[in-house]
Amino acid sequence: MAKADDVDHEAIPHGQQAPACTVVIFGAAGDLTKRLLIPALYNLARTGLLPEKFALVGVDRLEMTDAAFRQHLDAAVRAFAADKHYSQVLDELHWNELLQRISYLPGDFGDPLAYARLGDKLGEVSAAQHNGDSVLFYLAVAARFFGGIVDQLGAAGLVTEAPGRWRRVVVEKPFGHDMASARALNTQLRRSLAEPQIYRMDHFLGKETVQNIMLMRFANSIFEPLWNRDHIDHVQITVAETVGVESRAGFYETTGALRDMVPNHVFQLLALTAMEPPASFSADAIRNEKTKVLNSVHRVDAASDSVRGQYAVGQRDGQLLTGYREEAGVAAGSMTETYVAMKLGVDNWRWSGVPFYLRTGKAMAKRSSEIVIQFKRPPLSLFRDTATEALTPNALVLKLQPDEGAALMFGAKIPGPSISIGQVHMDFHYKDYFQNAPSTGYETLIYDCMIGDATLFQRSDSVIAGWKIVQPLLDHWAEGAADGEPAALANYAAGSEGPAAADALLQDSGRSWKRLV
Ligand code: BG6
Repeated sequence: MAKADDVDHEAIPHGQQAPACTVVIFGAAGDLTKRLLIPALYNLARTGLLPEKFALVGVDRLEMTDAAFRQHLDAAVRAFAADKHYSQVLDELHWNELLQRISYLPGDFGDPLAYARLGDKLGEVSAAQHNGDSVLFYLAVAARFFGGIVDQLGAAGLVTEAPGRWRRVVVEKPFGHDMASARALNTQLRRSLAEPQIYRMDHFLGKETVQNIMLMRFANSIFEPLWNRDHIDHVQITVAETVGVESRAGFYETTGALRDMVPNHVFQLLALTAMEPPASFSADAIRNEKTKVLNSVHRVDAASDSVRGQYAVGQRDGQLLTGYREEAGVAAGSMTETYVAMKLGVDNWRWSGVPFYLRTGKAMAKRSSEIVIQFKRPPLSLFRDTATEALTPNALVLKLQPDEGAALMFGAKIPGPSISIGQVHMDFHYKDYFQNAPSTGYETLIYDCMIGDATLFQRSDSVIAGWKIVQPLLDHWAEGAADGEPAALANYAAGSEGPAAADALLQDSGRSWKRLV
């Protein structure tokens, strides 16, 4: 059989039913499967995008029969159906039809025999469902299993492609723990897979408002002429969460806010905001431009241009909130950061001299992901009697979640005999214009894997470009720890807007973060 690079698969236009295939989920008994993947497949079935000829095989270590697995999923989907991301009232017909196509295979991810059994199982389901030979392997497992599973799939011949038979692998984040491990994982995956077979998942790219950043910029003519160093003073990217570490201390203690959120989600927002218009809307044209942005970011001086913090006891709406070190599973003297902020520069003609300020944190005052494009102040010759500082500059705020929309802020005359200027907001809310189809955010991403559109997935070069930016910060913090002086970890009260030290990143230049509340 030919290598994937040599196989040209038929391109399926968006909006058409995906082609016949089987989805294999490794980690089928886990949380991601029942909370997001199965509900997303159900939403695809409801909207007619899931292939008519379809089967799903769940693989996990737990011993379970097909019937028990279906029952487990049925209970979960019914429990989530009332959530706003799902369809409110379960469409019994579509759900039961999908459930009948689901089976289960117990197996240890490291056991070669499990992969031989999987090969047989794939033959059985395709004979029963007439759904052909194409397979999407979804690795909904802890990152330490990614490489091993792909090695085994390769050794068992399960990822070999042929005309009319595609084999693709979805890898969840985190992709590597640092630059060296990301490179090593890329190398390991490429031993069995060609790059076009690898779909590196970043679920932020499944969010409508994140996809809309590009549309907003390139489908309108009013923004792009202003979108450069001549008109923009600086850019702020915020991903603030109200949740703390929840029950994920095992993962988070060795990960921290930087690794968890920045090289993936936050950098995707940065790339979409700063990229040049792509030559076309093809996957590679877009991914080329995004990668170019990350490669243009100049080295961050970790000591002066980054701040890391950890939440301490605090409160929100009068409710006492636990500090990170008191959370279940967290070490009493933990030095893991739950907040990170940094200042970056993108060295190219469009952005030279324009600072980008990035921040993300847990247990903050408000859940808010937004991008603020702050424009330069006007020359003000008309307003000699108004102090320059009193005039708030124009800003465009792209609101990604939870209140999805955009706002334009500008000055207007306050009614009255004197000339004084007040700031006003022109607000656009998605919900006022568009009806939101129930969505977990995974529908588009899974559908795109099935039709072979890699636009919303990270290519290996962009993953590496992301790690290249954050590696100096990781090194700086590790050096401090080796000297017995872990690089400063600024405390912030849970429920607040983050550590005061993060304000200093902007204050020197007379700028300030947009308030979260
Ligand atoms: C995940 C992180 O990738 O993204 C979590 O591991 C974080 O720590 C989550 O809470 C945020 O995603 P969302 O879709 O809830 O904004």
